[in-house]
Amino acid sequence: MSGYIHLQIVENAEDVARIAAQNLCAQIRERSDAVLGLATGSTPEATYAELVRVHRERRVSFSRVRSVNLDEYQGLDGAHEHSYRYYMQRHLFDHVDMRSWNALLLDGTAVDGEAECRAYEERIRALGGVDLWLLGIGSNGHIAFNEPGSTRDSRTRCVPLTAETIADNSRLFAAPTEVPRRAYTVGIATIMEARRLLLLATGEHKARAVAAALRGEEGPHCPASFLRGHAECTFLIDRQAASLLES
Ligand code: F6R
Repeated sequence: MSGYIHLQIVENAEDVARIAAQNLCAQIRERSDAVLGLATGSTPEATYAELVRVHRERRVSFSRVRSVNLDEYQGLDGAHEHSYRYYMQRHLFDHVDMRSWNALLLDGTAVDGEAECRAYEERIRALGGVDLWLLGIGSNGHIAFNEPGSTRDSRTRCVPLTAETIADNSRLFAAPTEVPRRAYTVGIATIMEARRLLLLATGEHKARAVAAALRGEEGPHCPASFLRGHAECTFLIDRQAASLLES
């Protein structure tokens, strides 16, 4: 059965970042040891910058916050400048009072990948689940690295990346050939277990994926469409990302 997605359309990417940061801060103020689910990529960068700003004004503390990230490239260790651990350090962890041992990320260099994935699911469970998970959306409708074809019951695993995702993400690498071909990702079922979800999308290049997720047929061809089955999911998007939604 499909649920109901709260749709919040705001003017621009700046508003998305400000409101997303407000949501995360409200969650931390409600519960100082909140478990936050975090995303990487271009979209949440401004949200993290806003969180750092609010933290510097001493309006929020991360000292008890726990976090769980969505995904990591296979083969990259945390010190690699394109790893998602490095991204999190650079955009958030290095600038707030978060304790390093409270940040959970997949290890891209795990020798036993299957054991790494199983342990990740267990660790999330041991944390008591995720209170609020921040998400982005790929131009092909992926969430985390759950590429088209991923099923509703998918769990943490190592997946091949699609040509579209490799092309999208190559802007951050020196050359497209340097983009890892595989990544570890939490599954759709893992994401759906979070108590609240907040998906951010900005820019015209996300309009097609947003329209497919909200208005298209629900199914593995557009993994983000599964979010409609969640009881507490908000799409916080700017006007450009909303441009293909009929009013
Ligand atoms: C990142 C992630 C991805 C991104 C998506 C959008 O942790 O899980 O699903 O959210 O690829 O990326 P950007 O924001 O770079 O357009």
